[in-house]
Amino acid sequence: MAEGDPARCPVDFDHFSPEHAAHWPARWAEMREQCPHAWTERHGGFWVVTRYRDIVAIAQRPEDFSPAKYQDPETGESRGGLAIPELPGLRFIPNEVDPPEWSGYRTFLNRRFSPKAIDVLKGRARQFAAALVDRVIEQGHLDIVDDLASPLPALMMIEIFGFRPDEWRSFSDPFHKMVYTPADAPEFLETMRGLDYFARRVDEEIALRRVEPKDDLLGLLANGEMDGRLLTDEEIQNIAFNLMGGGIDTTTALTSNTLLYLARHPDLRSRLAANPALWPVAREEFLRWVTPIHGLARTAIRDSDVDGWEVRKGDRLLLAYSAGNRDPEIFDDPDAVKIDRFPNKHIAFGAGMHRCLGSFLARMMYETMVTEVLARIPDYAIVEADIQPYETVARVNGWVRIPATFTPGPKVGAVIA
Ligand code: HEM
Repeated sequence: MAEGDPARCPVDFDHFSPEHAAHWPARWAEMREQCPHAWTERHGGFWVVTRYRDIVAIAQRPEDFSPAKYQDPETGESRGGLAIPELPGLRFIPNEVDPPEWSGYRTFLNRRFSPKAIDVLKGRARQFAAALVDRVIEQGHLDIVDDLASPLPALMMIEIFGFRPDEWRSFSDPFHKMVYTPADAPEFLETMRGLDYFARRVDEEIALRRVEPKDDLLGLLANGEMDGRLLTDEEIQNIAFNLMGGGIDTTTALTSNTLLYLARHPDLRSRLAANPALWPVAREEFLRWVTPIHGLARTAIRDSDVDGWEVRKGDRLLLAYSAGNRDPEIFDDPDAVKIDRFPNKHIAFGAGMHRCLGSFLARMMYETMVTEVLARIPDYAIVEADIQPYETVARVNGWVRIPATFTPGPKVGAVIA
């Protein structure tokens, strides 16, 4: 721990550091025990909240702690928002919006991501997963990230939006790279520019939907009424980016980590392959254990306290969901994967009103991918020497590359179309 104001429990902590990426469970445990609300001066200064109960309490007090992004009236710069350090540019809608505005957007979107709406998409997800495995099954090797875990969520998001399936690479690559490229890396700006393609395609398709309405998500964004009015082009872009940004790399990371873990625990893999009915409970445990989004920010909008811990107006806070999900006060033996853990009140999808809009979709895509792999290439073995984790877990706890080999098998004739 660093020296400084003891009430702030100062630490020298940077969630972007490779050291944190390599040792985060131990680092969180140490902070949770010694300094459950620690203050770091990095990135302009912020609290690191590592206890489950504090994270949930803060997430459930939007009137005191806000994820909203706004423009500083004096400088015109973007302030607040979900990212530490603050990111310039668009604000995610609905995630970086406060009530009452937030409820209009969330109600507008909810129906498209309800359990019923997601049930209808199961067949398409199965078809895409089968087609992705078909592309590699005769060759006997694949990259779990690039060949499966990354394309499937991109294909499904494209399906839901109403873009053409052959565009998935151009959409998924920039979102994937943006997540694992550190903000100070020279290629970060180039990666951000890759997102322009998505922005342009949203504009083009919205213009088309306005002339020729369709019942896809782009059609809803173009022509649907929220609180009796149409959305502006800027709102549409901000919603589209929130949905794509939230939807793509998160499920990718969950699937990649799970398949890696199962290859390293072949008995568990065989058990799950033989009993797919175990997945609904096992899935929640992998969500807890992986926690694809490690943490997101809030800004204190007034002086207040959390159980006696004083927070000042303007303070930034990192809600470390991955630390909360390993809190021994809530989860017995928290670093272990127990696929029958129940109840499992993990916060991998957040807590409070901003809890994930896409949770049913994510669960469905994930289960479809892992069951397809276990059914068709059950003996996959990881090429351990060639795997590459993200250099930073600050945005998503994922993998750049997980090559694997397996016994080749037959295609089933599924196509991406
Ligand atoms: C395993 C996959 C996923 C994980 C771990 C995840 C995680 C999260 C988390 C932690 C939050 C809370 C944000 C906060 O605290 O402010 C959130 C919100 C959100 N997620 Fe997800 N997410 C996943 C998949 C998806 C998918 C597939 C979509 C696509 C629709 C999506 C869209 C959103 C949106 C729009 C919000 C903001 C909700 C609001 O502000 O009302 N997410 N997600």
